Amino acid sequence: MTAIEPFDAVDLIKIKRDGGELSAAQIGWLVDAYTRGYVADEQMSAMTMAIFLRGMVSTEINDLTAAMVNSGERLDFSGLSKVTTDKHSTGGVGDKITLPLAPLVASFGLAVPQLSGRGLGHTGGTLDKFESIPGWRADLSNAEMLAQLEKVGAVVCAAGSGLAPADRKLYALRDITGTVEAIPLIASSIMSKKLAEGTSSLVLDVKFGNGAFMSEFERAKELANVLVRIGNDAGVATRAVLTNMNTPLGLAIGNANEVRESVEVLAGGGPADVVEVTVTLAEHMLELAGMTGVDVGANLDNGKAMDSWRSMVSAQGGDPDAALPVASESHVVTATRDGVVSRMDALPFGIAAWRLGAGRARKEDPVIHAAGIDLAVKPGATVKKGDVVFTLSANDSARFDRALEALDGGWEIGESVIDRGPLIAEVITG
Ligand code: URA
Repeated sequence: MTAIEPFDAVDLIKIKRDGGELSAAQIGWLVDAYTRGYVADEQMSAMTMAIFLRGMVSTEINDLTAAMVNSGERLDFSGLSKVTTDKHSTGGVGDKITLPLAPLVASFGLAVPQLSGRGLGHTGGTLDKFESIPGWRADLSNAEMLAQLEKVGAVVCAAGSGLAPADRKLYALRDITGTVEAIPLIASSIMSKKLAEGTSSLVLDVKFGNGAFMSEFERAKELANVLVRIGNDAGVATRAVLTNMNTPLGLAIGNANEVRESVEVLAGGGPADVVEVTVTLAEHMLELAGMTGVDVGANLDNGKAMDSWRSMVSAQGGDPDAALPVASESHVVTATRDGVVSRMDALPFGIAAWRLGAGRARKEDPVIHAAGIDLAVKPGATVKKGDVVFTLSANDSARFDRALEALDGGWEIGESVIDRGPLIAEVITG
């Protein structure tokens, strides 16, 4: 005998279409019925569009997040002797922060579980960057992940398919129905995966600017507020840091080159912007885990964060001393006049790196780990005609033209630098 369903999808769609509120029971049923295939894609498409147009109140967003968490397994870190703290970034160009951040925070005795993804489009994926390291593997069982957290403190691995499966199905549907950009849907999507992961605290790096998923500052702030509220309402101490993504982060954009740059940061060097974001996020993660007044930067200078990095890479089969892949072809772009680099826009550099092979256009495409862009200078630098501004790297020189096309108009040499605002714009503490 088939079970009687407690609701009818059409009734719920009409409630949201007309601007009404859905109850926890209605949302719980809808997500469950969609995950098991009872509610059809076309019905869920109508619902996501209704949510996009009408929005959701806080309780609905919390209920939607909880329903997506309940659609799959939850990780349990309660057996660990260490306090867990997690970070999530909405993604940006040259955003390699997880690489130095996870071992840095782990070097203070905390456990940092980073369940990450592969990149799609112009923002790179953390796993793609790590996979430049010979031997490193992303797929760990839950038991391996827990053992590594206990021993090393930091783990970066692929999020298993068991976490929030409703989100995966819903995200694929949003992607083809023009409903990705709805804040209730974005926020519940991000937070369902983080809550299912079971961390005790969470710092969100919400990016704004031309290279960010959400370019307008005010929209990014609205998203950050909703994310922080969902986390805190669910009992996870959550903060968001709004960071500027108008200019690529650091000098390296790609995969292997971003690993090299991260290792420089772990060795106490590296570009100032990468160090600032890494240290700021680490300070918030430590504070949320109860460690205040800590000199976070000290562990970059004294080698402790580097020791954590080496242990973390080795624990996942990687060789921290192995040479990283280098591209066979390069194309150097030089200054056409004397002046000051007035701007370098993140989005065109991200698209160009992607066209060089550093990112994928389709989920099943491989990435070319050696491909990418290395900036020789950042906005504000004084250059002379003929000085190197950046170098493109690829394994096939035929890729350079399309990458250069993306960069056309994306950077400029002028009389002075254009102010793109502070790197760390605001912190939302909830
Ligand atoms: N990242 C996610 O995980 N989900 C979204 O909806 C958008 C960005």
